[in-house]
Amino acid sequence: MLIDLHNHTKIGSWDSKLNPDETIALSKERGLDGIVFTEHDSVFGYKKAKALSKKHGFLVFAGIEVNVEDGHVLVFGIDEYNDSFRKHKVLNEKIKKNNGAWIAQHPYRRWKPHPVVLQTSDWDNEAENIKALDRAKDVNLFEISYSMDVLNGRANIENNSFSMDLATELGMHYTASADTHEEKDVGKVATYFPKNISTYEELIEEIQLGHTWPVDLTNGSLTNYKDFCIIPSDDELSKIWSEIKITRDTIMKNKI
Ligand SMILES: [Fe+2]
Repeated sequence: MLIDLHNHTKIGSWDSKLNPDETIALSKERGLDGIVFTEHDSVFGYKKAKALSKKHGFLVFAGIEVNVEDGHVLVFGIDEYNDSFRKHKVLNEKIKKNNGAWIAQHPYRRWKPHPVVLQTSDWDNEAENIKALDRAKDVNLFEISYSMDVLNGRANIENNSFSMDLATELGMHYTASADTHEEKDVGKVATYFPKNISTYEELIEEIQLGHTWPVDLTNGSLTNYKDFCIIPSDDELSKIWSEIKITRDTIMKNKI
């Protein structure tokens, strides 16, 4: 199933031009099987998502995009918000209590140097990228994140590569989300779930397990990783997931 985990609407996000009905209609039209509404630091609401799901005959869930100290995370499994969640340790505790999940978002926004700082227009140069990656690897938020969006529909190829490199080095599972704010964003990327999902609990469980795969539905305009333009077989996915687990376990063991 193809699910876009990251959608903003003008009801809860000041920077979105879409209303929920439009987003759902476009998502259906563009071949998705479900979406999650994730407003900035506010609740979309389980109840509202359920009503929309019924109205459109489409999978609709509600999460939150929380702006924590070191970046943004998509949160699943919480239907409330308060400012203490901006501390990622508090948020993490709440997620554990609710048996939820989070996915780290666009690390380049916070951790890649801005061209003004570098006094250069070449802010994607390799040396600066390596330094930025080294800084990001030590950020506690990423160290404790189990999954990361390695494809963001509004990012360029270089920034998505930065997310991919960071996720790979830290042994995180890969996801993709379009981060929709306007019509053209809908359906550019999605996360593939091999399991047939019909409830929010099932979606969260698959995210917790890392049974996800990022798909570039633009067929390569958003990533250098051509494997993200296809959906691997179940066997190939199991192999990839066990390799990620080995990397993750090795990192964790070395930290103790
Ligand atoms: Fe977002």
